[in-house]
Amino acid sequence: MFYFPLCTLCEASHNVTKTNVSENLGVGLAMEGKKVLVVDSDPQADLTTALGWSDSDNLPVTLADIMERSIRDEDPDPVSAILHHKEGIDLLPSNIALSGVEMSLVTAMSREYTLRNILNRIKDNYDHIIIDCPPSLSMLTINALAAADSVIVPVQAQYLPAKGMTQLMKTVGKVRKQINPNLKVDGILLTLADMRTNLARVTADTIRQQYGNHLRIFKTQIPVAIKAAEISATGKSIFAYDKGSKVAQAYSALVKEVLEGEARSKTTPPRSR
Ligand SMILES: Nc1ncnc2c1ncn2[C@@H]1O[C@H](COP(=O)(O)OP(=O)(O)OP(=O)(O)O)[C@@H](O)[C@H]1O
Ligand SMILES: [Mg+2]
Repeated sequence: MFYFPLCTLCEASHNVTKTNVSENLGVGLAMEGKKVLVVDSDPQADLTTALGWSDSDNLPVTLADIMERSIRDEDPDPVSAILHHKEGIDLLPSNIALSGVEMSLVTAMSREYTLRNILNRIKDNYDHIIIDCPPSLSMLTINALAAADSVIVPVQAQYLPAKGMTQLMKTVGKVRKQINPNLKVDGILLTLADMRTNLARVTADTIRQQYGNHLRIFKTQIPVAIKAAEISATGKSIFAYDKGSKVAQAYSALVKEVLEGEARSKTTPPRSR
C-alpha cells in the first residue's frame, strides 16, 4: 500500500509552535475526512496536555511503555496506548518517562528505527501520522525523522532562524543518506507571523531567498494570536475553540496546502537524487 505522508514537525529550537501546529493540522486533516494519528514524541507531553490529558503521568500506557517494550524485544502493542480525541483524531500520548527511554535508546539495537518499527504496525489504519518532536535534536528526533516520509519545519517569523534551520537541514541530509532515503522536506512554515512588523517581513523574505529555490515555503503563515496560545489549556483545537478566528482560517489554509502538495506528489514521479 502506498502510504503518504507520514509528517513530522520539528526544528532545533524552542517554541516555534511545533505542538500547536501538530494539534491543529491533525484536527484540520480529520475535518477533511482523513484518518489521523498524532504522536507525542516529546517527554514534556505538551501535545498530550493540549489535547486534554493534563495528568499525563497517570496515563496507563504511553509511548514510553511502547518504546521500552520494543527495546526489550517484546510485542510493543501500540494500539494499547492510543487515546481517541472527540474531535476525531487519535493520540499516541507521552509523559516524562519518555526521557528515560531516550537513555535506553542509546544502547538499543536498531535504536534509530524503534519508532518506525512501532508505527509500521499501525500505519495502515491512518491516512496521516503527525509526530510532534521535542525541541532538541535528540535520539527521539532522529527516531521521528527515521520514521517519517516528510518533515514540516515551523520557523518563527520574528527571528532570523539561520542557525537552527541550517542545523536541522544538515540533520535531514544526514538522516536521508544514512537512515531514511525517503525523507523529504514537505515545507517550511512561517509561524508567529506578525506581518505588520518589518522584522517578520525581512525574515520571510530571507527564508524565501535562501531556501525558496529548492524547498517549498508554505504560502500560509500562521499569525501570532492569543487564541492560538489559549487552546493549550482547553483540550480543544482552534477549530473547536474559535473556528471563525484568523488563526483557525490560517490552519484551514495550511490543511488545504498540505493536501494539495500530497495530491501533486502522488501524480509526479519522485525526483532522482
Ligand atoms: N499562533 C500563535 N500565536 C501566539 N502564540 C502561540 C501560537 N501558537 C502557539 N503559541 C504559544 O507559543 C508557545 C509555544 O508553542 P508550542 O508549545 O506549540 O511550541 P513548541 O515548538 O512545541 O515548543 P517546544 O519547543 O517547547 O516543544 C505556547 O505557549 C503556545 O501556546
Ligand atoms: Mg512542543
